Amino acid sequence: MPVVLITGANRGLGLEFARQYAESGWKVLATCRDPAGAGDLHALRASCPALEVHPLDVADFATIDALAGRLAGRPIDVLLNNAGVFGPKAHAEGDRRQEFGSMDYGIWAEVLRVNLMAPMKMAEAFVEHVAASTQKKLVAISSTEGSSPNAKGGIHAYRTSKAALNMLMQNLAPDLAPRGIVTAAFCPGWIKTRMGGPRAPLEAPPSIAGLRRVIDGLTPERSGKFWLWTGQALPW
Ligand SMILES: NC(=O)c1ccc[n+]([C@@H]2O[C@H](COP(=O)([O-])OP(=O)(O)OC[C@H]3O[C@@H](n4cnc5c(N)ncnc54)[C@H](OP(=O)(O)O)[C@@H]3O)[C@@H](O)[C@H]2O)c1
Repeated sequence: MPVVLITGANRGLGLEFARQYAESGWKVLATCRDPAGAGDLHALRASCPALEVHPLDVADFATIDALAGRLAGRPIDVLLNNAGVFGPKAHAEGDRRQEFGSMDYGIWAEVLRVNLMAPMKMAEAFVEHVAASTQKKLVAISSTEGSSPNAKGGIHAYRTSKAALNMLMQNLAPDLAPRGIVTAAFCPGWIKTRMGGPRAPLEAPPSIAGLRRVIDGLTPERSGKFWLWTGQALPW
């Protein structure tokens, strides 16, 4: 039974990944900040008993080490860095704290910690679990907001965090190739979630089904690249 570990699995895209992998017969290690409040995950566990729920705040690196320790000796085929934060939304809420002239540097640091540094910490903490697996995949949910065609001004914290995440996944590929681990970054499209908002054109299920197909098809030759949920290679 292949194993996937998902961060931020309690809602949005992470929850849909958990649902689809669990219903496809995978062992799902679903992690979230507040397991007690993760009602949808517990409901999913009722029909998919192989699903496990583990506490993990990816901004708290000690909890990452603690979880890696508790899971020591358990192979993880796909380590899926999904948890992410957008930061203040000028377009929706008029909050300009990631806009030029009113940048909040504390918020920028928080966004970089969750979206960029945490995936690096996850890679360092879980490298042995992934290397011990059959599929050996380390992936991250990024965004085309972090690619050059979207350098349209504004949204600095989120855009720079995802551009740097794309570089991290590409830069880790040669580091991890000797262990047989492949890496990738993905854009799910613009999806109706709390982050994507109600105006988003896409629902989560087809995007996550597409992303699972792209993850299934990852090979060493494709390692380090940035992909759309459709399987199209993306520039960044
Ligand atoms: N939706 C889109 O249109 C879209 C487009 C491109 C990329 N993405 C990316 O896709 C990923 C998932 O986004 P989404 O749309 O599902 O967003 P969402 O609905 O806002 O969900 C975000 C998830 O991340 C978790 N999270 C945030 N900070 C965390 C932390 N410190 N530790 C652990 N978990 C944390 C949240 O947990 P809590 O419930 O505890 O807050 C939640 O489970 C993100 O990386 C996002 O940047 C989304």
